[in-house]
Amino acid sequence: VRIVTTARELRDHLAAHRRRGQRIAFVPTMGNLHEGHYALIDEARRHGDVVVASVFVNPAQFGPNEDFARYPRTPDEDAQGLERRGCDVLFLPAVAEIYPDGAAGATRVVPPARLATTLEGAIRPGHFEGVATVVAILFHLVQPDVAVFGRKDYQQLLVVRGLVRDLAFPIAIVDAPTRRDCDGLALSSRNRYLDDAERVRAVAIHATLRWIAAELRSGAPLAAIEHAASRQLVEAGLIPDYVSLRRALDLEIPDPGERTGLVALVAARAGAVRLIDNRLLDD
Ligand code: PAF
Repeated sequence: VRIVTTARELRDHLAAHRRRGQRIAFVPTMGNLHEGHYALIDEARRHGDVVVASVFVNPAQFGPNEDFARYPRTPDEDAQGLERRGCDVLFLPAVAEIYPDGAAGATRVVPPARLATTLEGAIRPGHFEGVATVVAILFHLVQPDVAVFGRKDYQQLLVVRGLVRDLAFPIAIVDAPTRRDCDGLALSSRNRYLDDAERVRAVAIHATLRWIAAELRSGAPLAAIEHAASRQLVEAGLIPDYVSLRRALDLEIPDPGERTGLVALVAARAGAVRLIDNRLLDD
């Protein structure tokens, strides 16, 4: 894998590929890569001749009390993993390369409030503004034909789709299914913080999402399903931030009788570790 750290080097390197008519597929990440990320690299390979990954822990998307400073940074392992997985280019910029005047002083991209201030955005104010801002910058620097995002961060995926449409980025957004451990826990860089007992409890998130899917088919009211699912998480020793059934298209609150095109989204804490997961309920 070719490692580049500056925007200029990235531009020069990719321009050569573009001149040869090669399609560029991009996977933005915050590093500490695991099989979930590598599956996105595989997906990118299916859509491009040149696969570019970025590793950048974006200060703009962390709140003041969040884990920016202690977010795991493993650039050497990430580079080795990307090399093994056949990624062509790793963009590994310093903060000043992305935000010349610092993240706080940068021009921002503000996604629509109805999408960005609900669920994750309600609990993490400004988070999706930080995501939209860095994704817009990375899109300008990489200028990919295709960019791949995981479905695990479902709300982020919708924010990015809206960003691309509203700001007319000529980029196709491809989404990839969530990768899971064999007991169903969605892969996440934050799983490494779980101790053994928390790791066992964390399985309840996936189990609850499956229960919701089954319960929905039974015809129970949506609010009752959300309430019971939340109780299940508490009984499993987790602290739910939300359990919510929403319209999959735009995360709007569905009418009580709606049964199709929904997504269930969960955020819950196991000890100090905050986990999110979701399930599309379109069957
Ligand atoms: O999903 C992530 O890892 C980040 O939110 C992203 C898209 C790389 C932006 O920093």
